[in-house]
Amino acid sequence: MLVHKIEEVGANVKEWKKQGFTIGIVPTMGALHAGHASLIKKAVEKCDKVIVSVFVNPIQFGPSEDFDKYPRTLEADVELAESIGADIIFAPSADEMYGEGQRLSNDTLTYVVPPFFFVNKLCGKSRVGHFDGVCTVVMKLFNITQADYGFFGQKDAQQLIIIRKMVKDLNVPIELIGCPIVREENGLALSSRNKYLDEKGREDALVLSKILNNIKSCYDKGINNIDALKETAFSFLKDVHELEYLEFVDKDNLEEKEVADDNTLVLIACRVQGVRLIDNILLNNINF
Ligand code: PAJ
Repeated sequence: MLVHKIEEVGANVKEWKKQGFTIGIVPTMGALHAGHASLIKKAVEKCDKVIVSVFVNPIQFGPSEDFDKYPRTLEADVELAESIGADIIFAPSADEMYGEGQRLSNDTLTYVVPPFFFVNKLCGKSRVGHFDGVCTVVMKLFNITQADYGFFGQKDAQQLIIIRKMVKDLNVPIELIGCPIVREENGLALSSRNKYLDEKGREDALVLSKILNNIKSCYDKGINNIDALKETAFSFLKDVHELEYLEFVDKDNLEEKEVADDNTLVLIACRVQGVRLIDNILLNNINF
């Protein structure tokens, strides 16, 4: 069922709670693909009732980012989410989420601000304020849906780690479930932003997963020196790739690693055809 109003979600949630149902929330920005579908499937397996939100959240986009051109495919999204078994697809307007005519800024709106240590690195470095916008909207979705379980992809590893931190620090009564990255057969991590790439771009974009897989196989062979591991990665890069970062951090607290070990998360961001793509791999292969 497609729902646009917070109040209508609230009425359903109240009824479900009365009946003792567990509720899962899968926050998305739509343009759903098999990565999102895997989260929805997990939620349907685990929870009695599932809400998928579809909201291109304006406050997590910087002024020069792709908010306006971000793909919007609500009809197909509803069809996909319902075919997997979602009970509600919640697609609010910005006015509905933040108040009619509300100026979207932290001068006038209450924001949830994650700690500086978690945001002053990786994607947060180039996307200033991005994770404030993410945490604010995710907290609102948790409150609106009263969900028992929240489902997030490891594709956006820094986002998942920051949301875990928010839930812990603010005692939010929800359990988070991290879900593995879904990839195309050739290794490319699925992303709504892959739609911006042409055929050559998609080919060039394989460099992210190639670099990560190469690092993992070098690590498996016993190389744990991070400079050496980075060095092997650079040989994959061509002129068409604008590397933004390649970092080795602890999977729990995002602290920079000095030596690679089983807790190490390797993250990469790279522009291809002007499109910013991200990917990551955990060196022990276990989910986080
Ligand atoms: P969006 O980019 O639409 O992603 C929604 C969820 O799908 C996120 O948890 C993301 O990690 C997961 N996801 C995306 N691609 C995936 C893949 N290839 N494999 C597995 N999971 C994947 O992330 C956001 O939206 C927003 O920041 C949001 C959390 C909804 C807040 O606005």
